[in-house]
Amino acid sequence: MIVHFGASRIELVQGDITQQRVDAIVNAANSGLLGGGGVDGAIHRVAGPTLMQETRMLYPDGCPTGSAVATTAGRLPAKYVFHAVGPVWAGGEKGEPKLLASAYQTCLELSLDHHCQSIAFPAISTGVYGYPIDLAAETALGVTWKFLKQKQHPEVVRFVLFGPGPYGAFARVLESLAE
Ligand code: APR
Repeated sequence: MIVHFGASRIELVQGDITQQRVDAIVNAANSGLLGGGGVDGAIHRVAGPTLMQETRMLYPDGCPTGSAVATTAGRLPAKYVFHAVGPVWAGGEKGEPKLLASAYQTCLELSLDHHCQSIAFPAISTGVYGYPIDLAAETALGVTWKFLKQKQHPEVVRFVLFGPGPYGAFARVLESLAE
C-alpha cells in the first residue's frame, strides 16, 4: 500500500527489513545497544561485526528509551542504521505512547540530518517488548503523517511489516488517515 504526500510517500510492505534498499533502516534496539533477537539480531547478523564495534565506540552509554542514534550499516544494503529504543509495553499508563512516538520522531529527524531520501522502519516495540500492534500502528503512522505534512521529507517512509497480521494493522490505520 502506498499513500502519496506531495513529494513524499508512505509505503507499507511485508518483508524483511534487512533486505531493504533504502538510505536508512531502523533497528528496534534496547537501551544498552547490546544486540538481541528479532529485528536487532537480524540486522546485526546481516550487517556484520562492524555495527556492534561502531555502536560500542560511539555510544558506550547506550541510548535512552524514546530516542535513537545513528551508525553506518556494515554489509546491509543501506547507508545508515538508526538504532531506536522503543518502550516495553506495561499496560499503556507508563508513558508508552509518548516514548514510542518520540523514538519514531527522532529517526525521522535523523533522516533529515543525514540527508536520507528514504527510510525503512520495523514495527518498533511490537515483538519482545509487547506493544499491541494496533496501538503501535496508530502512533507510528500518526507521527509520520504529521512529520511529512510539515517537512515533505524524506521522500520515502517505508514500514516493513513481518507478516500479514502486522501489515493488516498498519493498513487499517493508514487507510483511515488517508480518508
Ligand atoms: N524484518 C522486519 N520486521 C521484523 C523482523 C525482520 N527481519 N524480525 C522481526 N520483526 C518484527 C517483529 O515481528 C515485531 O513485529 O519486528 C517487530 C519488533 O520486534 P522485536 O525485534 O522483538 O523488537 P521490540 O519489540 O522493539 O523489542 C526490542 O528485542 O531483540 C531485542 O535487542 C532487542 O531488546 C530489544 C528488544
